[in-house]
Amino acid sequence: MKVIVVKDQAAGGKEGYKVFKDALDNGAKVFGLATGSTPITTYKEIINSDLDFSNCTSVNLDEYVGIAPDNEQSYKYFMQTNLFNDKPFKESFLPNGLASDPEAEVKRYDKVIDEHPIDLQILGLGRNGHIGFNEPGTSRDVTTHVVDLTESTIEANSRFFASENDVPKQAFSMGLASIMKSKHLLLEAFGENKADAVKGMIEGPDTVDLPASILQNHPNVTVVIDEAAASKLS
Ligand code: F6R
Repeated sequence: MKVIVVKDQAAGGKEGYKVFKDALDNGAKVFGLATGSTPITTYKEIINSDLDFSNCTSVNLDEYVGIAPDNEQSYKYFMQTNLFNDKPFKESFLPNGLASDPEAEVKRYDKVIDEHPIDLQILGLGRNGHIGFNEPGTSRDVTTHVVDLTESTIEANSRFFASENDVPKQAFSMGLASIMKSKHLLLEAFGENKADAVKGMIEGPDTVDLPASILQNHPNVTVVIDEAAASKLS
């Protein structure tokens, strides 16, 4: 694991941007993307650059169940407004939150990932150590699946909704097995409320109770964290 500690999230965005640029320069064609507040500064740096993804494919980590793609709370909408409107990709895949047959949707998404092996996957980190929506206790063998979100995740994500009750209770998520297949992983975490999860991910035991600790087993991980998120590292 290569760990880069920066002053704040703005500086983290610049480091994240460099990782995307290097990947593109080295021929990467498939980018795994994340939503949430963490990757926003990296996406801003990309938007303000001349990087060109028009020959590339994107595959997102997750999507809420029951939310339409044009709903402002959907991850599709997030990607559109935070990246794709300014930096279009040749094709972009996300799980379909409105899929009427979740099992078929899970299979469809696994096929998407198999057919588009991910060169660089960007990840945020949940306060409870989740990556994608692989919550503590999730088996490491699963590929795409439907997740029951934990109370901690629902509460953390309620800041994007009118009330906690409006936060969907389930999501489609790439599984840990799918994430580990990416050639290069870029995990970003900013803020003091990520410090425990960061410590567990880097220094703690490799355990399903802290899903991100699985990254200790991946040969090519870049971690970009700010001083606050790094504050509990020894
Ligand atoms: C989002 C995702 C989640 C978030 C994590 C951190 O696509 O997969 O794992 O990365 O919940 O969220 P933020 O960045 O909002 O702190």
